[in-house]
Amino acid sequence: MSDSNSKTPTGSTMSTGAPAPSDRNSLTIGANGPIMLHDVHFLEQMAHFNREKVPERQPHAKGAGAFGVFETTEDVSAYTKAALFQKGSQTEMLARFSTVAGEMGSPDTWRDVRGFSLKFYTDEGNYDLVGNNTPIFFVRDPMKFPHFIRSQKRLPDSGLRDNHMQWDFWTNNPESAHQVTYLMGPRGLPRTWRHMNGYGSHTFMWVNAAGERFWVKYHFHTEQGMEFFNNAEAADMAGIDADYHRRDLFEAIARGEYPSWIMSVQVMPYADAATYRFNPFDLTKIWSHKDYPLIKVGKMTLTRNPVNFFAEIEQAAFSPGNTVPGIGLSPDKMLLGRAFAYNDAQRNRIGTNFHQLPVNRPKVPVNTYMFDGQMTYEHSGNAPVYAPNSSDRSWADSTGKMEDGWEADGDMVRSAYELHSEDDDFGQPGTLVREVFNDEERTKLVDQVAGSLLGGVRSPVLERAFEYWRNIDAEVGRRIEEKVRAHSAPEPVPGMGES
Ligand code: HEM
Repeated sequence: MSDSNSKTPTGSTMSTGAPAPSDRNSLTIGANGPIMLHDVHFLEQMAHFNREKVPERQPHAKGAGAFGVFETTEDVSAYTKAALFQKGSQTEMLARFSTVAGEMGSPDTWRDVRGFSLKFYTDEGNYDLVGNNTPIFFVRDPMKFPHFIRSQKRLPDSGLRDNHMQWDFWTNNPESAHQVTYLMGPRGLPRTWRHMNGYGSHTFMWVNAAGERFWVKYHFHTEQGMEFFNNAEAADMAGIDADYHRRDLFEAIARGEYPSWIMSVQVMPYADAATYRFNPFDLTKIWSHKDYPLIKVGKMTLTRNPVNFFAEIEQAAFSPGNTVPGIGLSPDKMLLGRAFAYNDAQRNRIGTNFHQLPVNRPKVPVNTYMFDGQMTYEHSGNAPVYAPNSSDRSWADSTGKMEDGWEADGDMVRSAYELHSEDDDFGQPGTLVREVFNDEERTKLVDQVAGSLLGGVRSPVLERAFEYWRNIDAEVGRRIEEKVRAHSAPEPVPGMGES
């Protein structure tokens, strides 16, 4: 193809807005000659290209998302005064779905937990709910989180994923049993993001207009119906289309098939937390629906694809610490750790002023005393940059008891949570296996675990894994051990380590 200027372009510009000379030919001395250093347009293009990626998210690197609306259809004002959850309120929002362990280019269909991140652009500031497609998690102390994620990623020498490392971590941290059972079970591998539920997972606080406090857990039930892949289908799909889930969401919305989810909450009266049979702030536990039934709140519908993936999805910054009046955090140590981690990650990943980007910017006026820094776009002009000040620039000054706070007292310790009457690591996963899964699902669980265990797990981790499963359920544990011992030629299982 000729690269002469055979066609008159309408013209691009340089970053300064001045006309760019050519997007096809660099400036040279003669047709075959050396390139000139003063071809500023060429140098600008090369230099910017070298900087056009930002670091991928440490966990949850592979994902995609879409914009939509959340409508509160029910009256839950008895529990929260948050403007977005008042009946009739409609709030613009962004959702991003993801896998956890895989890198940016990894297949969407590996067996893994899925992220379910929501950003609500409310009239009172941005509210983020950064959950998963599971109601529980692997660990309950944030100190363990970096260790957990590293155990699911890659070996330091070969750069391969590794079953041994994963099971070494899980079996050394028995509180993982509930989440691991969920992940290996029938709901562990969604067919598409549209066909999975979402959960806030943690316990949060809601505060009503009278100042009464409640503990809540969020549930988002898919209106498309839940559908799942089996291992064979997922493995095939990983080879055929590594972006299957990303494509499915984008194409469905482009066709006008707008996916929707019904949001409900479980509400626990504030005082119940002290005596509930499970520690309600332990992220490895659910609350029984018999004890705290679902209360419907509203509906989220995704209606608009991003027009620029990088600007609107890659640069999107969610944080569980982003709350609005009427919604608070809770004593869940994981949640408190996360309230720091995300914005810090984003200062590193995107830049100091990531909150000023259009996708992250609130729809309400901002009056922050955070000042300057790389890429400052919004600023406070010549207003005072300190508080208190003697001009008319306002500052915040609340003191005393926080409306979304809780009582805390005691010595400073490093310790696990205090156990409640029915707290242990294996009780709830045992109930899941025996009372929620049917016979066929139990058999699939045995096959799934035995399959993933077979790939390179060595003693003593292997024996610990058998014990882990016997602790969850004696019969399931026995069947897993029997199956593992009977197999000598393992089949790889997608996403659970290939080495
Ligand atoms: C102490 C525990 C945890 C820490 C320190 C942590 C840290 C992080 C960090 C640093 C990111 C990348 C953020 C970014 O670059 O924008 C991330 C992403 C994410 N995490 Fe966590 N995480 C923790 C636990 C959890 C839990 C319990 C859940 C779900 C219940 C969760 C769900 C997510 C999701 C969905 C994303 C992707 C956010 C997005 O779509 O941009 N994480 N996490």
